[in-house]
Amino acid sequence: MTMLGSDAFVFFGATGDLAYKQIFPALQALVRRGELTIPVIGVARAGWDLEKLRERARDSLAKHGGVDAAAFAKLIEQLRYVEGDYADPSTYTRIRAALGGASRPLHYLAIPPSMFATVVHGLASAGCTSAARVVVEKPFGRDLASARALDATLHEVFAESAIFRIDHYLGKEAVQNLLYFRFANSFLDPIWNHQYIDNVQVTMAENFGVEGRGAFYEEVGTLRDVVQNHLLQVIALLAMDAPLSNDADSMRAEKLRLFRAMRPLAPADIVRGQFAGYREEKGVSPTSEVETFVALKLHIDTWRWAGVPFYVRAGKCLPVTATEVVVRLKAPPLRVFDELSPENSNYFRLRLSPEVLLSLGARVKKSGEAMVGEPAELIARHSPRRDRAPYERLLHDALRGDPSLFTRDDCVEAAWRVIDPVLTAPAPVSGYAPGSWGPAVAAGLVAGPRGWHDPTVDCWPGADATPRPLAKEQK
Ligand code: BG6
Repeated sequence: MTMLGSDAFVFFGATGDLAYKQIFPALQALVRRGELTIPVIGVARAGWDLEKLRERARDSLAKHGGVDAAAFAKLIEQLRYVEGDYADPSTYTRIRAALGGASRPLHYLAIPPSMFATVVHGLASAGCTSAARVVVEKPFGRDLASARALDATLHEVFAESAIFRIDHYLGKEAVQNLLYFRFANSFLDPIWNHQYIDNVQVTMAENFGVEGRGAFYEEVGTLRDVVQNHLLQVIALLAMDAPLSNDADSMRAEKLRLFRAMRPLAPADIVRGQFAGYREEKGVSPTSEVETFVALKLHIDTWRWAGVPFYVRAGKCLPVTATEVVVRLKAPPLRVFDELSPENSNYFRLRLSPEVLLSLGARVKKSGEAMVGEPAELIARHSPRRDRAPYERLLHDALRGDPSLFTRDDCVEAAWRVIDPVLTAPAPVSGYAPGSWGPAVAAGLVAGPRGWHDPTVDCWPGADATPRPLAKEQK
């Protein structure tokens, strides 16, 4: 299938936070690579003009990655600005005029989902959508019902194949690497199942709070902010069966099967926490029950994964900023050496951020007379985060019309189905001290003596427990 590239890029919310932090840096990077030569039209209702938007672009780049003089000069030449209220039909007439001869624009809705209906209908009425594509940002709804309503709204104007739902985790090099590692190696699949794997843990820890986004966070909480999307996507890549090929449809078909096999969460599967001080944040209710931490146990009811718990832990104000997966293998069937136990069995460690690390935890004999071993990690890949930034990669794909790294309506809805029961009847929220690993009660979720994996220390008990030096956080 040939995919025609977009011939204009229109972004709504041009004066907003997302444009400032992510979109301008991605656009400059694409211009620098010679991959963006089309008109770039910012739309907002801020009372601005083009000059002000250019200044904002410069400021954004100065703070996020640096201004590249040559690329920036090109970018501001390509930049246009359309001022207007999203509810006013004349805004869309002006967008149509700014598009000139362009007939295949990519519209990026960096605006609250409550505005989607108004904007997509406005664009359609002004003749801006016939061969267009649209990019929408998470959150894709607040629950299953609202996700369906959102999809129905978008489908009134756009075919599913023209809708690109961004989950920036899917644009991360480390997440791509996970998929590659799983299906480019033949040694993995024979052991990647309930016969060999004891449990899987995914930790997404952040050592900072809500950073001025209190009002936003009140609407989401950790489950909606990072679990329903980023972390379930990571689990899908870890656990799905091999796709027939590397095309978007095959990938999505396998992911969908996996999401559908995830057992909807029950109250006993989840612990919610809130860091002390959250209620004093700007935009947060003094009686807020919103979680800034979750720990949960997920079951995947397939032949491959029956009985293997998938533990997920995510939160703000935790001891470190790191996202890491640990896949723990069962102990050898017979204890030939006394020291062997389920506690020091083999594992795979897949660190997704801040750096990319793929390693296999093994035991090797210590030199000497005794048959006593020590832990060793066989590192398959270890690199700092220097690749294409996720937004750059994803915008590039959307402009080319490649949907592989975007989520489809049925996958999004299947992921909501897993979370929905604990949104409707939320577990009570327990407090925790900033800098700790969440409420103490979370420890009880994990079966076995090892408990939760701590990404700041080595995987082995008794191994050097000094914090692993982390690459400097590059938020
Ligand atoms: C975003 C969440 O989607 O992902 C944030 O809204 C979170 O709360 C962020 O901090 C984490 O992404 P990254 O790429 O910075 O690890």
